[in-house]
Formats: sequence, structure tokens, C-alpha cells
Amino acid sequence: MTTLVSKSSSKFIGKARIPGDKSISHRALLLAALAPGMSQIEGLLESEDVLNTKKALAALGVKIKKNLTNFQVAGVGTGGLKPPKVPLDFGNSGTGARLMMGLLAGCPFAVRITGDSSLVTRPMARILAPLCDMGAMVDPKGATTLPFTLTGSANLRAIDYVSKVPSAQVKSAILLAALGAAGETSVVERLPTRDHTERLLAGFGAKILKETGDNGSVKVIIKGRPVLRPQSLVIPGDFSAAAFLIVAALTVPGSKITLKNVGVNPLRTGLLDVLATMGANIEMTNQKNCSGEPVADLLAGHSSLSGIKTSAAIAPRMIDEFPILFVAAALAKGISEFRGLQELRLKESDRLKEMAQGLTANGVEVEELSDGLKIKGLGGMVPGGGMIDAHHDHRIAMAFLVLGLRARNPVTVRGAESISTSFPGFAKLMTGLGANIKDAE
Ligand code: S3P
Repeated sequence: MTTLVSKSSSKFIGKARIPGDKSISHRALLLAALAPGMSQIEGLLESEDVLNTKKALAALGVKIKKNLTNFQVAGVGTGGLKPPKVPLDFGNSGTGARLMMGLLAGCPFAVRITGDSSLVTRPMARILAPLCDMGAMVDPKGATTLPFTLTGSANLRAIDYVSKVPSAQVKSAILLAALGAAGETSVVERLPTRDHTERLLAGFGAKILKETGDNGSVKVIIKGRPVLRPQSLVIPGDFSAAAFLIVAALTVPGSKITLKNVGVNPLRTGLLDVLATMGANIEMTNQKNCSGEPVADLLAGHSSLSGIKTSAAIAPRMIDEFPILFVAAALAKGISEFRGLQELRLKESDRLKEMAQGLTANGVEVEELSDGLKIKGLGGMVPGGGMIDAHHDHRIAMAFLVLGLRARNPVTVRGAESISTSFPGFAKLMTGLGANIKDAE
């Protein structure tokens, strides 16, 4: 168990490169495995979550090698995957497990799937329902959580699916399964979620179409059994990782940071819109395209932030950024209210509960609502002094380490090893820019 202590810091300054995007890294590996031939991936995130997906692919017979900074994936196609001799263990990663289920739905063999103590509590019925409609089978029948055994089929049926929850993982699992189904499969989302799978699938040569409805809903249509071609991909920096550094820079007086080559897909950057309304000074420069994704440099400097209200509509565009937004709200001036966030109770931890408890332990007034939080911002430093348990949740750990930079008493985070699931080197990168974060004595 790693315990880190974060203390009031006088400045947060410099340039940094953020590790590769976690969502895109998982997807790049999976699609490269499905495209017969050699794909190259540069900038893959080498965090525990992504390495578990890589390990699972290796167990399915996919050869993946690292050559300096590039990963080379020898794609075999759906038909080329082999039954694994061991259960596939996705550790802490909901994305790895759920996306792989989509891919395995098209493989005619049984695979045991499991994960760590956090992942085995997370809801899987949302994925299993559409995959079983398409022809996959699960044992035990009616399972709703891991571990279970999934048996795919080489004759999946195409479906038209209306997503019940805004979830990129559900949409992506269906799209990956649809690759093995004859005919067209469609997924409708009332509130559109991140579209990395769609962008990558198009790049790999799949026929994929997006229709936007009058009410803002999106329908994605994919043609089954495409011929995928291997690709050379460059993974952008992870906006969800950058978010922690951005809020640190906005809230520590005298700060100014530049983050190079960060992914700025509009379905991920809702936090920038919310922070701008709060009064944040963030600039986006050097915008370009990187393997089908928009990328830019982000400049953030100390800003005077005010409280804000958000509702369900923006949540899918920033679903992973609420823990750090709650920290920004605690340091901002005035009351903030965040609603429509039931999904946050189903992440690596119950993020509404853990953030409410942790902020309270650090002297912030918080009201926990069934679907959100109400936070009374202090307009400056918080009392601090709280002891936080990360509860196997990297984002809870990082959010409170950022809070500690503006706390009168040190903030202690137990279980900080969870950070390596998404952001290896977080503490080192932060201290390099001036953050006072150390191992507990
Ligand atoms: C992800 C989708 C989101 C997000 C997760 C990554 C993805 O989950 O919270 O960290 O890569 O597709 P949901 O699809 O459950 O909302």
C-alpha cells in the first residue's frame, strides 16, 4: 500500500507531456489485433489497465512486441484468436473488460473473465444484454457482475440497439461485436459519448456512419464483417490525466503550465467548458489531427474561480473529470451544484460518496444528493488535514492530492498505488512542476 502526502505548494510551473490516452490505448490494441497484419502504435499508455488488455490479447494468441517507443501488434482477425488457457483478468479496468467482451462475442469459444475487488462489483448487465441479443452466451445465466464465462459465436446477429445508459463502453462493445455480425448494426445514444471507437474503426477501414437527430441524439451504424487493414497510430496525451494538472495550475497562485499534445476530442473536453464558465484562464494552441483525433497544447494559469451548476446533459462529455471538478469547486468562490451524476456511483468507486466524505474530512461543506453533490466553495485554501482512502480508485487519489496543494494542513492519501492504473509517474510529474507531494514517512 502506498501512502502519499500532499502539502500546500507555492507555485506550479512548467511544460509537461501527458501519458497516452487510456481509452484510445485500449481500443488501438483491440482493433490492431483484429486487423490482419502488423500495426504500429506509438505513445501507447503503459499503465496497469492497458497492460492488462495487452496481456489478455497475448493469452488469446496475439503477438505484441515493443520496439523502442513503438508497440507492434501482429493482428490475426477475429477468426484467428485462440481460446485462452487462463482466465482473463482485467484488474481494475472496466474499459478493458467491457470492450474485450464485445470482441469475444464474435469468438466461438468459452472465456472466463475476472477482475479486482472493485471491478467484480461493477455492473455488467448493461454489456451482456446487447451481446446476448446478438448471440453470445454467459454462464452463470443472468450474471450481472464478474467473474463469469462468456461464450461467443461465429454467427452473431446484427441488432438495432437503443442505449439505456450513456456509456461509451456499451456502445463500443456492441460495435466491436458487430464486426462479426452479417448486416448492419446500429446503436442510438440519447446523449452522445466519446467516439474513439468509431474514429478508429473508420481508420482501420470499417464502414461506419453517424446520424445526428434533432434532439441531439446520435445513431452509429456499422456494416458487419469488414476487411480491416493494419494501421500506424499515434496516441494523443490523455485529457482525463491532463485535467488534474489543469486544476492544479488554476488553483495554485502564481501557476502557469503548458501541456503538449493533449487529445481534445469534443466528446471528452466538457471540463474545459465548465471551467471556462467558472472563470478559468485556459488556452488551446497548435491544434492538429493525430490518427483521426484532434490534439492541441493546453496552457493553464492561476485563475479566480466561481461556483457553477451543471446538469445531466454535459456529464457524458466529462464523466471522468467530476472528482477533480469537485476539487475545483471546493477551492472556488461560492456554491456549486452538480446533478444528473448517478453513473458516478458505478465507477472504480462510488465517486459521489467518496468525494463527499473526503471533502468533508478536509473541512469543506458538502451535501451528498442521490444524483450529485452541492459544494460550498471556500474561495481559497481549504483547512485540509484529512486522511483519504482511495478505495481502488485512481481518480479519487489524484483529486485529493491536488486538493492538498491548496490545504492549510497536509492531505494524506492511502492506496495511492491505484494511480498506476491510469497515470504512471503522476507524483513525479507533479513534483517536477512544483507540487509538494511526498511518500508518507
Ligand atoms: C470509457 C468510458 C467511460 C469512462 C471510462 C472510460 C471508455 O465509462 O468512465 O473511464 O474508454 O469507453 P462508461 O462507458 O461506463 O461511461
